[in-house]
Amino acid sequence: MPAKTAARKSAALKRDYPRIVVPPPGPKARRVISLDKEWSSPSYIKEYPFVMAGGRGAMCEDADGNRYIDWMAGIAVSATGYNHPKLVAAIREAAGKFLHICGTDFYYESMAELCQALARSAPGKEKHRVFLSNSGTEAVEGAVKLARKHTGRQYLIAFDGAFHGRSYAAVTLTASKTKYKAGFGPLLPGVLHLPYDDPYRGIDGLASVESLFESKVSPEEVAAVVMEPIQGEGGYVLPRAEFIRGWRRLCDKHGILLVFDEVQCGVGRTGKMWAAEHYGVSPDVFVTAKGLGSGMPIGAIVAKESVMTWPQGSHGTTFGGNPVCCAAALATLELVESELAANARAMGERLLSGLYQLQKRHECIGDVRGLGLMIGVEFVKDRASKKPDGELVHALELEAFKRGLLLLSCGKSVIRVAPPLVLDSYDVDTGLSILDESLTALGR
Ligand SMILES: Cc1ncc(COP(=O)(O)O)c(C=O)c1O
Repeated sequence: MPAKTAARKSAALKRDYPRIVVPPPGPKARRVISLDKEWSSPSYIKEYPFVMAGGRGAMCEDADGNRYIDWMAGIAVSATGYNHPKLVAAIREAAGKFLHICGTDFYYESMAELCQALARSAPGKEKHRVFLSNSGTEAVEGAVKLARKHTGRQYLIAFDGAFHGRSYAAVTLTASKTKYKAGFGPLLPGVLHLPYDDPYRGIDGLASVESLFESKVSPEEVAAVVMEPIQGEGGYVLPRAEFIRGWRRLCDKHGILLVFDEVQCGVGRTGKMWAAEHYGVSPDVFVTAKGLGSGMPIGAIVAKESVMTWPQGSHGTTFGGNPVCCAAALATLELVESELAANARAMGERLLSGLYQLQKRHECIGDVRGLGLMIGVEFVKDRASKKPDGELVHALELEAFKRGLLLLSCGKSVIRVAPPLVLDSYDVDTGLSILDESLTALGR
């Protein structure tokens, strides 16, 4: 038995995962899959046949009792893991009091407290205000409306590779894959796309701004620049700080609002509460969701008080800021501030150094990049051409799945490492060795 496998087995004795008792999908998983296939919308993707039945920390258990290390957190959502006792207690307590009253029309303590907590957490000195939504898409949609209403301008700038959601404004801003838009037009007018900064592929995201403002749109007509401070769905692309700072300067010069989509990269994922903090830049507006409720559906628009000027009744929601979700978000923010952002920094460093080691041994790993627990591993056919190898990424997901590691792809050929922020060194090291074995099994 190879030393690495033996080490993994002995460490696993102290843990009860990863544990494959039946090759997945087992019989119970197959039953769920066939039921789902018969009745659910065919638009769902379903990356591979994992059927969730339970979880604990950064471990997921499937319907047949197989246990996996989770490196994807249900698309970067389960910030505090799958059933953190503080989250479960906060949710139970809130649910025991009342399930709904509608924060658009009435008041409750957890909503006011969450708005305060989010506003106070915002980068920058200015006072902020908060609107609560049910999802990231809804927050993006609202931020676009706010930007147009506040500035009285109509144009929006977004970026190639961006993902902002699937409602009409959000999907128009999205430019990661054409399938999100195909057949759904006409889309929102007034949206222009520019290249996103990509150091690995040598793309300078600021290079085409001048020609945009010279030949396509006057900057005085642009309401907002909407950007992910680290691109998520588009491939976990980490831009140069100068790209972000350059856009801040341009927005200041032309009176354009800088809107950050922190839906995937926010809430401690990068080792700081907001990714914006890494660049020393304060956006005028930012949106959050995903990790905010640790799995409970909640999002938010956080804007400078001088920008959140829309009048009473101009925007609202029935469910947004639901009291049970507010309780989950308050508990999540507390845990992220007190321990999980620091853990994301420490485990992120451990992961990055392990991945750099793997990159030395596996030629197919073209690039490793990231901050905290938001790390992209880009796979290429060869390092000279940097041609994306999407087939390898899918095969790797399946190999790792068989061995008890849950991975998720993004971009053309990137594994996004976005585990729960409670991940520990055992989860990191065991996952790395499964990744190594899986690549070797694939002959890469
Ligand atoms: C950066 C970003 N913005 C917006 C969204 C949409 O969020 P939701 O799926 O909660 O509507 C996503 C979802 O993946 C995202 O990654």
